[in-house]
This record gives sequence, structure tokens and C-alpha cells, in this order.
Amino acid sequence: MTGIPTRRIAVYPGSFDPFHNGHLDIVERCLPIFDEVVVAVLFNEEKRPMFSVDERVAMVRGLLAERFPGAPCRVESFSGLLVDFMARLGARTVVRGLRAVSDFEFEFQMALMNRRLNPNVETVFMMPKEDFSYLSSRLVKEVYGLGGDLTGLVPPSVLALLAERLRPEKRP
Ligand code: PNS
Repeated sequence: MTGIPTRRIAVYPGSFDPFHNGHLDIVERCLPIFDEVVVAVLFNEEKRPMFSVDERVAMVRGLLAERFPGAPCRVESFSGLLVDFMARLGARTVVRGLRAVSDFEFEFQMALMNRRLNPNVETVFMMPKEDFSYLSSRLVKEVYGLGGDLTGLVPPSVLALLAERLRPEKRP
């Protein structure tokens, strides 16, 4: 990719297993800044995600349509290198949420490796709302599985999906 692209496309990649309110907060912060936001869901079946990539894509599509109707955002899945996916889209900005200093080392490595793989790719870090600064998909699954209340941290539609997987005994 050469030159300055006319459309500023942000790619927000992740496993999103599942998507939670911290992720929604990052998308919301991107919308006024970029012409388009592409949520890129990693196809990572070898990591044995709770939700398949198709389920995660459908989950995020539903949430974005509900929360940001008509907004220039879409959801795609990808496998292989993120920079290759971005080149196919004509995108040069990766957006990642940074919650705490503990995130920094891994994010720094990824940002520099992606830049090494494609010098046109820049990574932009965004801080989610403080209320979500401790939230992770891993904790969501653990806490919900142990019976904890996640109201306000996870959208109701995702809570319903978690209930099917983690609390099947409570199904009507
Ligand atoms: O939500 P996650 O699991 O922290 O997201 C990690 C993700 C998807 C951003 C990262 O694993 C990734 O980009 N994977 C694609 C493969 C790739 O490009 N690896 C090199 C990155 S330096």
C-alpha cells in the first residue's frame, strides 16, 4: 500500500470471546475519529474459544446494529496475519484497547511486529471508560460460570448466549 488513503479505516481486531461493554466502548470512541470501523474477529479455533468464529461475528454484528444503527462500522472474520487482512481492506490503522500497564508489554510487541511486517501500519491505543478498565473476556466467562452478576458489564444479548453455554440448567 502506498500514499495516503482517502478513507480512514480503523481495524479493531480481537478474539472477542465474548464481546463485552469495554469492547463496545472502544468502538464508540472510534466512530467519530475514523471514516469506517471494521471489527475483525480472529478465527482461532485452535485456542478452543467458547464461541465459534461465526457465533462471535453474529454476536458483534447484532450488537453494533443495535447500539450504533446506521454507523459506518462492520464486522469481518480473519485468519492469518492481521497486516495481510488490513492490506486487503486498504486499512492502515489498528485500534487496540489499553486497560492497564499490564496490557502494555504484549501490545507494544504486537504493535512493533505489525509495523515491522508492514511499515504503513500504525497502532492506536484507546483507553476504555474506567468502569471497564478491569474487564476481560476471560473474566467474563469465569465470573459468569461461577454465578456472578455481570449486569452493566456485558450486553443482555451476550448474557443470554453465556447462559446457554454456562448455565444450561437454568434454561426454561
Ligand atoms: O483479543 P486478543 O486475543 O488479545 O487479540 C489478539 C489479536 C487477534 C489482535 C492477535 O492475536 C492477532 O492479530 N492475531 C492475528 C495473527 C497475527 O497477525 N499475528 C502477529 C501479530 S504481531
